[in-house]
Amino acid sequence: MANPVIIFVIGGPGSGKGTQCEKICKKYGFTHLSTGDLLREEVASGSDLGQSCNEVMKKGKLVSNEQVLALLKKAIHNNSRTNGFLIDGFPRQLDQAIAFEKEVSPCNIILFFRCSDDVMIKRLMNRGLTSGRVDDNEETIKHRLDTFHDNSVPIVEHFGEKVVSIWAEREPNVIFNDVVRALDTLPKGSKEVKK
Ligand code: AP5
Ligand code: MG
Repeated sequence: MANPVIIFVIGGPGSGKGTQCEKICKKYGFTHLSTGDLLREEVASGSDLGQSCNEVMKKGKLVSNEQVLALLKKAIHNNSRTNGFLIDGFPRQLDQAIAFEKEVSPCNIILFFRCSDDVMIKRLMNRGLTSGRVDDNEETIKHRLDTFHDNSVPIVEHFGEKVVSIWAEREPNVIFNDVVRALDTLPKGSKEVKK
């Protein structure tokens, strides 16, 4: 694999991770891997693993680190021709980050989209009218927020200056200007990824 950049994208549920990742991919051509999407694909496949993941996601809890990391490694392996991976919704726990960096590659930068709970709830309730996602309902959204608040601080503290914190209660294009400013400082591929 030709030294892809690794970007972690974190933020609460509905903070706009997916929306910004779409824009980033268009501009930089990185490969977008959303752990939530990978898990929903597994659910859709009808596998036993998918069924058990669905139960966890319905409760707004975290799927086990081993399962998430296995799905992520497979997706990385299947997309080996890329100049970078945009890993959306990961890490959700510090242990995930540590395991990834040990077993796959160090990350170059972490984008952290910050948003108040009230705004995230409003966005997700609104999306829930049409999304069909098992977790876009009032009760699960509360649990997703709790899970996020319980786990995000150690990640941010651990990565220190690698974390670029971006206020995400603005227009998507305005937020994206800050994203571009952060990503334009990255070297053009500098890490070796283990398969
Ligand atoms: P995941 O799918 O990652 O869900 P999430 O983190 O809860 O966040 P969302 O995808 O709902 O929101 P988003 O931040 O991407 O925002 P979006 O751009 O869509 O994870 C789902 C579940 O899978 C987890 O709860 C967990 O169970 C499991 N899981 C996933 N990763 C895991 C991991 N690493 N380890 C263990 N378990 C894991 O925007 C939301 C809405 O807001 C949209 O309608 C959008 O149009 C709108 N919007 C976006 N930006 C703006 C803006 N700037 N202004 C106004 N509206 C906006
Ligand atoms: Mg998302």
